[in-house]
Amino acid sequence: MDIQSCVEVCNEWDIVSARQLGRNMAKELGFGNVDQARITTAISELARNIYLYAGNGKICLEPVEQMGRKGLRIIAVDNGPGIRDIRKVMQDGYTTSGGLGAGLPGVKRLMDEFSIDSTLDSGTEILATKWLR
Ligand SMILES: Nc1ncnc2c1ncn2[C@@H]1O[C@H](COP(=O)(O)OP(=O)(O)OP(=O)(O)O)[C@@H](O)[C@H]1O
Ligand SMILES: [Mg+2]
Repeated sequence: MDIQSCVEVCNEWDIVSARQLGRNMAKELGFGNVDQARITTAISELARNIYLYAGNGKICLEPVEQMGRKGLRIIAVDNGPGIRDIRKVMQDGYTTSGGLGAGLPGVKRLMDEFSIDSTLDSGTEILATKWLR
């Protein structure tokens, strides 16, 4: 029923495209400016992680409906190295690249639902959903 739209992420311009797609879909679904900004920030962080750690992957966005609630789900998928210790990467300040280590914990805070599924040497799939209020 739901239509997924995806953006391949292989360079920094693709991060901008993913953000733009996210803003358009969020606006269309009826999210206000603040939630639009939360969603586009989450997309940026996930897309940037794909670009930095996996080299390439994709960001898919889909409208979702659950028990009469409407929302937008971000699906970030890559076939990169995977994440060894998911608990660790969810701690504020944990980074393997000299970044701020704020990306993933930030995405979790900005969105309503968040999950990571990752297999070493195989890849990572992160789901993050925001519900309309
Ligand atoms: N898609 C991914 N594939 C493999 N490892 C990842 C992926 N995304 C994140 N990681 C790992 O998780 C760590 C934490 O990610 P997070 O986005 O929270 O911080 P960061 O990217 O290091 O810094 P910041 O996002 O604040 O610039 C990264 O340093 C990296 O080791
Ligand atoms: Mg990051």
